[in-house]
Amino acid sequence: MISDYTIGKFREIETPFYYYDLDVLRSTLDTVRKESKHSGYQAHYALKANSNPRILKIISSYGMGGDCVSWNEIAAALDSGFSPSKIVFAGVGKTDKDIEAALEANISCFNCESIPEIEVIDHLAAIHNKTAHIALRINPYIEAHTHKYITTGIEASKFGINTWELDEVLRILATLNNVRLIGIHFHIGSQISRMSVFKSLCARINELQEWFFSHGIDLTSINVGGGLGIDYENPEKSPLFEEYFSLLNEFIDLRPGQTLHMEPGRSVIGQCGSLISRVLFIKNGSNTLFAIIDAGMTDLIRPALYQAHHKIENLTSKGHIYRYDVVGPVCESADTFGKYIELPETRRGDIIAIRSAGAYGEAMASRYNMRDLPASVFSDDL
Ligand code: LLP
Repeated sequence: MISDYTIGKFREIETPFYYYDLDVLRSTLDTVRKESKHSGYQAHYALKANSNPRILKIISSYGMGGDCVSWNEIAAALDSGFSPSKIVFAGVGKTDKDIEAALEANISCFNCESIPEIEVIDHLAAIHNKTAHIALRINPYIEAHTHKYITTGIEASKFGINTWELDEVLRILATLNNVRLIGIHFHIGSQISRMSVFKSLCARINELQEWFFSHGIDLTSINVGGGLGIDYENPEKSPLFEEYFSLLNEFIDLRPGQTLHMEPGRSVIGQCGSLISRVLFIKNGSNTLFAIIDAGMTDLIRPALYQAHHKIENLTSKGHIYRYDVVGPVCESADTFGKYIELPETRRGDIIAIRSAGAYGEAMASRYNMRDLPASVFSDDL
C-alpha cells in the first residue's frame, strides 16, 4: 500500500520517478535469506533486474551473491559490496574485455554457453595465468509457459549448450588447462508462474547429473537460474518463495559436497518498485478516454515489449469510476500502459502509480525522444 503520507510527499516531487519501498525490499530479502539458509542454498541476485546502486548496497548487505551479464554489472556489484567469491558471470556473448576483467576480479564462476566461449575463456585465462572456474549452461528443453521473449530453455533458444553437444564439450575440456568444470547451470525463462515448470526442471537436472556422474565428472555447483514470477495483479503480494524453495528441496537430488545456486531477479525487486507519474491531459478518443501521463515507454518498456500488465492506480482521486487508455507521451503507439483501465475520475495533475515495476523498469529505461532518464526516490528518504 502506498500511504497517504507518501502520496502527500509525491505531490512535491517532479515526475516521472521510480519509487522504491525499502521496507518491502528488506522483508523480501529477509525471506530469501531465511529460506536459503534453511536449505543451504546460495542465492545470487540477478543485477540485470535492477542495478540502482542504493538497491545493490542493500541487497549485498544480506549476504547475497551476484549474477552478472557484463563487466559493468560485475564492477557495479563489487562497488556495492558483493564479494567476488559469490559473483557468477552469465551471457551468450561475453566479450574478451569482459572476460579478462572478470578473470582479474577472481569471480567465482563463468556460466558458459558454447564451446567457442569455453575455448576463449581458457585462452585468456592462460594469458592471465589463471584457472577459470566454469559451469556449463545447458539448454534443458523445457517450456516455461511465459512470454516468448523471456522463454530461454527451448530448442529454438540461443541460450545454453545443447545436450547433443555435451560429449564434445567433455572431449574438448580434457584438452584445456586453464578452465575447470565445477558445475551445471540452467535458466529456462522469466516470470514463470507455474510451479510445475520448476518441477520439470528439477527432473531434468537429476537426469543430467546422472549423465555427468556416469562420465566420472564431479560437479560441486548446481545452478537453477532465476525465473520465479510475481503477481502483477496484486502488487502487495510477495512472491512464492516458500513454495519455490520447498519444491527445490523436494525434487532436486543433490549429492554430497554439492551446493545449489539460484539467480532470482524479479522476485527480489519487482514488488517494491512503482513508477510514479502525473496526468498531463485527458483527451477524448473516438471510443475511449485517453489519460496521457508524463511517464512513457522510455521509463518502463515492459508493456510495449512484452504486452505486460502492470496494475495502474490513480493515487489522488476517489471519484466515479471511468475507463481510460493510459498512455505515455512518446511518439509510438506502443507507448501504452494499459487499455480500458478502470480508474476513479482522472484529471490533469493526478498522480498515477504503475505498480510492480521494481524489476526491469529503471534497468531498461532509455533516452529515446531525448527524454530524461527517470529519477529514483526511496521510502527511507521521504
Ligand atoms: N539468470 C539468468 C541467466 C537470466 O538470464 C535471468 C534473466 C535471471 C537469472 C533472472 O531472472 P528472473 O528471476 O528475474 O526472472 N526484461 C524481461 C526479463 C528478462 C529476463 C532475462 N534474464 C522482463 O521485463 O520481463
